Amino acid sequence: MSASNAERIDLRIPHSGGPKRDFVSIPDFSREEILDLFRKTEELKKNRFQDAFKNKAVGLIFQKPSLRTRVSFQVGVWQLGGQCMSLSPAEVNIGVRESIKDAALTLSRYLDLIVARVFKHKDVVELAQYGHVPVINGLSDLYHPCQALADIFTVHEKRGSVKGLTLAYVGDGNNVCHSLLQATSALGMHMRVAAPKGYAPQKDILKDAQVLGRTTGSTIVVTQDPKEAARAADVLYTDVWASMGQEKEAGRRAKIFKKYQINKELLGYARKDVMVMHCLPAHRGSEITDDVMDSPNSVVFDEAENRLHVQKAIMMKLLGK
Ligand code: CP
Ligand code: NVA
Repeated sequence: MSASNAERIDLRIPHSGGPKRDFVSIPDFSREEILDLFRKTEELKKNRFQDAFKNKAVGLIFQKPSLRTRVSFQVGVWQLGGQCMSLSPAEVNIGVRESIKDAALTLSRYLDLIVARVFKHKDVVELAQYGHVPVINGLSDLYHPCQALADIFTVHEKRGSVKGLTLAYVGDGNNVCHSLLQATSALGMHMRVAAPKGYAPQKDILKDAQVLGRTTGSTIVVTQDPKEAARAADVLYTDVWASMGQEKEAGRRAKIFKKYQINKELLGYARKDVMVMHCLPAHRGSEITDDVMDSPNSVVFDEAENRLHVQKAIMMKLLGK
């Protein structure tokens, strides 16, 4: 995501180089770039320690809690030979203590790359617009692109290719679902979403994925029936019913989503070798049962591990390494 040329010229710091790139949502990378990232990820997974980020500093801005995103980015930067710092709302509080624009312009003078987890997607877009260094979206209300790339990489790693496979997403049409729609449609995977009435993915994101899918051979179906979505699926995916920021709705949502649990019965509709995925953190006994989470079909901890490897590839790409 880049600011208009006029803004860029006015605000450009004297020593900044050519146009920088950000990763705020999946369409920031082309299909070919995603496949290249997967190749790089495989290489980084085999050869974890490199010095590509020697003398580089990365800042992680978190407006919400995180285990995987925070630790995997921090360890990833360390494995690449760089320095990383995590900045909580108590320290930076972008958009509250000072404007996002001022924070972006200031942080760009110290850091080489920024990762931000925000409530409002427009905040990470603004950070990318005014920052002179690459900005990575570490989750917003609308998207979770690093998660979706790690998930699809996991399928690619286990199946050799993802084209033509079917991912069934059962649950809330949320940020993770949106990024999965963008990633599957870019790579020619089919996706079926089963969500209760009123909780389907956002219409504009769905439409864009369907249009892109026509060029890659991907089809997208939205239904209210989890069994219809799960039928013969290669991947069964779920996420929490109430995302961060929706805690007050958790009780109401638990009733609405009751039928949308990934359990042994639903697994029976999918392929025998179906991969069960969850971005984590999981609420065992709600959106997924213990037995499924711990079953041989579950690849949830492989997904979590792959966050580390995929994000290293993303950071290296954005810094031209
Ligand atoms: N999946 C994921 O992003 O986990 P965290 O919220 O713990 O970072
Ligand atoms: N949809 C969840 C994902 C957590 C990684 C949330 O936004 O809280």
